[in-house]
Amino acid sequence: MANANPPTRNPVGPTHFKLMRLIAIVLLALIVLVGLTVLVIWLTIKPKKLVYSIDDGSLHNYNLSNANHLNATYNFILRAYNPNKKVSIYYDKVGIDVLYDRETISRGTIDPFYQPKRNTTSFKLNLASHDVALLDLIAWNLKVERSLGRVELGVKLKARIRFKVGVWKSRHCHMKVSCAPIIVHFSSSSKGFQRTMCDVDFLF
Ligand SMILES: *[C@@H]1O[C@H](CO)[C@@H](O)[C@H](O)[C@H]1NC(C)=O
Ligand SMILES: *[C@@H]1O[C@H](CO)[C@@H](O)[C@H](O)[C@H]1NC(C)=O
Ligand SMILES: *[C@@H]1O[C@H](CO)[C@@H](O)[C@H](O)[C@H]1NC(C)=O
Repeated sequence: MANANPPTRNPVGPTHFKLMRLIAIVLLALIVLVGLTVLVIWLTIKPKKLVYSIDDGSLHNYNLSNANHLNATYNFILRAYNPNKKVSIYYDKVGIDVLYDRETISRGTIDPFYQPKRNTTSFKLNLASHDVALLDLIAWNLKVERSLGRVELGVKLKARIRFKVGVWKSRHCHMKVSCAPIIVHFSSSSKGFQRTMCDVDFLF
């Protein structure tokens, strides 16, 4: 009987095997090289988390109508700390939301800015609600909090930022900063504001 598969059609010939082994070794070497490069860059830059906090907050001109429309002004001090020794940050677009009970009651922006290495920058945020319609339940909760003399607010930042390391600048990425609960007192008598730390999330 003749062999149905002539030896030349055998895919795992000795030359094929050598070639595959060579490709495997080259691939493995590349993976190790890329891994080492990333590790060295990481160790050189030593990236640290950005730190945000609300250092002060107050509420003025509060007026909630019978139809549950809210007027108020809000003052916050937002502190942004960049602890990195080698990374600076371009804030190209920053939007701010003030939230009550997960409802946005005020919107604002921060002008674009550049934050150098190891820098702390504080922003005074002056925001307002002009005739903001609230859901009945949320307005009711707000009235309860008003009677207690303090309200729990939230501040959210959505920013488009770029990182700069040396002369290299990263692509844009999205950062979400969430500060809650911020306890704000109605009465002007300074009852001592509790500094609120914020959570930071990145979307690349
Ligand atoms: C709230 O607004 C209404 C209508 O604008 C006004 O009549 C009322 O005096 C205001 N209340 C306070 C406490 O400012
Ligand atoms: C809120 O302010 C607007 C003017 O900005 C006014 O027309 C409205 O009556 C005020 N509402 C309340 C509840 O004070
Ligand atoms: C942080 O950077 C800003 C902008 O360059 C600068 O105006 C400010 O003085 C710096 N703050 C500190 C504490 O170095």
